Amino acid sequence: MILYKNDISQLSAIIASHTKVFLLLDENSNRYCLPILNTIDLLKSNTIKIVIPAGEQHKNIETVQYIWSQLVENQADRKSILINVGGGMVTDIGGFAASCYQRGIDFVNVPTTLLGMIDASIGGKTGIDFQGLKNQIGVFSQPLAVVFLFEFLETLPKRELLSGLAEIIKYGFIVNKEFLNVTLDPKHPRLPNAPIAPSFIKQAIEAKAQITANDTTEQGRRKILNFGHTIGHALETYLLDTQKSITHGEGVALGMVSALYLSEKYLNLDHQITLYYKEIYKQNFNRIDLNDVSIEKLLEIMRHDKKNQSGDIRFVLIEDYGKPVYDVVVKPEDIVDSITYLIDYLNDANYWGK
Ligand SMILES: NC(=O)c1ccc[n+]([C@@H]2O[C@H](COP(=O)([O-])OP(=O)(O)OC[C@H]3O[C@@H](n4cnc5c(N)ncnc54)[C@H](O)[C@@H]3O)[C@@H](O)[C@H]2O)c1
Repeated sequence: MILYKNDISQLSAIIASHTKVFLLLDENSNRYCLPILNTIDLLKSNTIKIVIPAGEQHKNIETVQYIWSQLVENQADRKSILINVGGGMVTDIGGFAASCYQRGIDFVNVPTTLLGMIDASIGGKTGIDFQGLKNQIGVFSQPLAVVFLFEFLETLPKRELLSGLAEIIKYGFIVNKEFLNVTLDPKHPRLPNAPIAPSFIKQAIEAKAQITANDTTEQGRRKILNFGHTIGHALETYLLDTQKSITHGEGVALGMVSALYLSEKYLNLDHQITLYYKEIYKQNFNRIDLNDVSIEKLLEIMRHDKKNQSGDIRFVLIEDYGKPVYDVVVKPEDIVDSITYLIDYLNDANYWGK
């Protein structure tokens, strides 16, 4: 169930049907978002707060154990509810912790980042990172509701807003070219901090909800949401815990350059589309130095990707705007070429003007 600010009274009814209400926050959502949530005055006075450290490096089993220990200590029973207030890290780990506690208690997601709103909080994928592999452990489990309050975005750092922007741009390739206007069309009013028009946020929420509702466990068309993710995820994983760590959206923004290159090679995509995206990338995202990255290690990470079968590495590619094709098996040598293409693009001093 998707709830916007006007529908928020429905959350009161959901909460009232539970014995105990637990709020999961990270240190930033606790600081910036809880005060906003408190003004809405719908949380039970006996709400129990669980605060976890912020950041992907904490999306792990130790943090899950901490959440479970807090639930046990505060006598959470099967009719308790966990409300996850935060970015994708909090909704992923909170959904997972709730889905395993006493074989599953109800949970609600209240996303506080742009990426959380348009992607992570919707669709029922929950989980944690394990042994250096992203989202290696997890379950599909649907929240009772997802609650959207756009005022949370006012405190979000620009880098995090841009991370969400990458996922909205992705919809321009897999759903409808119109989404690319999120950055380019000056007619739309922008968020103060970034070139994002709020009207696109709602459209992206609805696109994700519609695609995932028809394929709750990712057996088919839902896979199109992984456009840009095969190489994007590998880069995000590879750079995690280094000085050059990148956000999820930055990984996707980079991965889309390689995915478009491969789309030309495998599906005859018009080269102009790749050139157009490279310009969008340049206008919005940072020029990242990937020269030290080991392509062999990236391939190794990709082989662990849950979306593969029998050792093949599978990609989502596009034939045209809004025409994605999933499960395309790409030869390792072509993947290497597509990463080299991305690195050359980022190195091209003439193009970047430095
Ligand atoms: N389940 C899914 O379908 C799905 C889809 C995409 C991504 N993900 C996961 O989502 C995670 C990334 O999500 P994210 O980009 O939201 O990262 P995040 O949750 O780590 O949040 C980014 C940063 O913003 C801070 N923050 C959150 N809300 C804030 C606010 N309103 N004001 C100021 N600071 C705020 C957080 O504390 C954190 O430091 C990754 O773990 C990724 O794997 C899951």
